[in-house]
Amino acid sequence: SIDAVTAAALPLAGITALRLLRAAGPVAGRRVLLTGASGGVGHYVTELAASSGAAVTAVSATRERGARLLELGAEAVVTSPEEAEGPFDVVLESVGGDSLPAALARLAPGGLLVWFGQASRTPVTLDFFDFFGGPAQARVAHFDYTRADTTYAAELATLVRLVAGGRLHPEIGSVRDWSRTGDAIADIRARRVRGNAVLTVG
Ligand SMILES: NC(=O)c1ccc[n+]([C@@H]2O[C@H](COP(=O)([O-])OP(=O)(O)OC[C@H]3O[C@@H](n4cnc5c(N)ncnc54)[C@H](OP(=O)(O)O)[C@@H]3O)[C@@H](O)[C@H]2O)c1
Repeated sequence: SIDAVTAAALPLAGITALRLLRAAGPVAGRRVLLTGASGGVGHYVTELAASSGAAVTAVSATRERGARLLELGAEAVVTSPEEAEGPFDVVLESVGGDSLPAALARLAPGGLLVWFGQASRTPVTLDFFDFFGGPAQARVAHFDYTRADTTYAAELATLVRLVAGGRLHPEIGSVRDWSRTGDAIADIRARRVRGNAVLTVG
């Protein structure tokens, strides 16, 4: 019921977003901070969380890169975690480097930070004493999308149902023939793609 290019944008980023939100727990009425939000996973997380009742603050390199996130339901787009007006009940962090400690400092007492990626390719240094001197009872959890009690088929059926019903809008920032895979990867790494890149065959 959906076209092939849209379907191709669903599997990894879409399944990750569904499972990430389940790992975050109920988000209705919760304040959620999402880093790396202009990427493939980020657009899905933003729309799914916002439509579930979360107040989402999205972190993106520029307001222009984050523009679509506002249309998908984000309350605010900021250009760094420091700029985000917290505190947040949930932080979904995928940039690493300085981003993780800065986002962690925005957590509310008892809040949860789910770490799921390191797009910056810069390791994270977390000071043990800063962490325990920070928000009381804050928790940090690691996330791996392959670990779940649901099948990929069930997740894909959910994603297709939401897209076909007009409730999920895959953001596709690049569509190219598969012979240009290298260019697509270079653009993703240089942060020139918003949302997902799709490669077509034939
Ligand atoms: N744990 C898991 O199971 C799991 C599953 C899927 C993906 N992941 C990870 O989750 C992250 C997000 O996945 P994705 O598919 O959404 O990736 P993506 O499309 O490449 O998006 C990553 C975003 O991170 C931001 N970013 C900040 N600093 C960056 C830097 N130095 N270099 C590149 N990007 C930077 C970029 O947004 P701005 O330019 O706007 O800042 C970019 O749009 C990746 O690290 C991926 O490996 C983990």
